[in-house]
Amino acid sequence: MDFEKVIKSRASIRNYSDKKIDSDKVMNLIEAANLAPSPDNLSILKFIIVEDKEKISKIAQACQQPFVGTAPVLVIICSDMKNAEKMFDERAGKYIKQHAGAAIENFLLKITDMKLASCWIGAFSDITIKNILKIPDEIEVEAVLPIAYASKTAKTEQKPKHSLIDSCYFEEWNNKYKKPIKRVGEN
Ligand SMILES: Cc1cc2nc3c(=O)[nH]c(=O)nc-3n(C[C@H](O)[C@H](O)[C@H](O)COP(=O)(O)O)c2cc1C
Repeated sequence: MDFEKVIKSRASIRNYSDKKIDSDKVMNLIEAANLAPSPDNLSILKFIIVEDKEKISKIAQACQQPFVGTAPVLVIICSDMKNAEKMFDERAGKYIKQHAGAAIENFLLKITDMKLASCWIGAFSDITIKNILKIPDEIEVEAVLPIAYASKTAKTEQKPKHSLIDSCYFEEWNNKYKKPIKRVGEN
């Protein structure tokens, strides 16, 4: 798919068909996530692939979002702070969140390109998901990402975004007006 089209058609889809997902496709998506920039190229993220229906149902409950339980596959993205903390001290937490976000967006863009459906799930009970998947205490759960095909009735359009007029500043905070650039020799 054309890059512009992928960015514009990526959308949070919450209505899934029960059609199975090939393992190759799951690995293609994780590979895309793994290609995201990472601080000092460290390996920080772990991807837990969950296909067991009972576990998927429990994870959906931990998210209190029933549609999550209708996906045939979930990928749980986790981060391991250990190496990042050694390297970046107090900036490690910030870096990890940024890295996880980049990896998640790569995953979602690849989902769109492959004509699959997903939704970034950030609301869940960390402790419950950790218990279900035996994730150690020191590991952070960053996101739950369903992998599915959209159902025939699913809403597949991206939500309209805020206007850049309100979020772009020029040269300094809160300055919404771009001055004409002075060229050499002009007053
Ligand atoms: C950090 C983060 C957490 C999110 N958590 C959830 C969630 O728990 N459940 C959900 O349905 N959508 C969640 N979303 C998806 C947003 O609601 C969605 O991106 C937003 O409404 C814009 O819609 P769009 O993705 O279709 O453009 C989350 C998105 C982000 C970036």
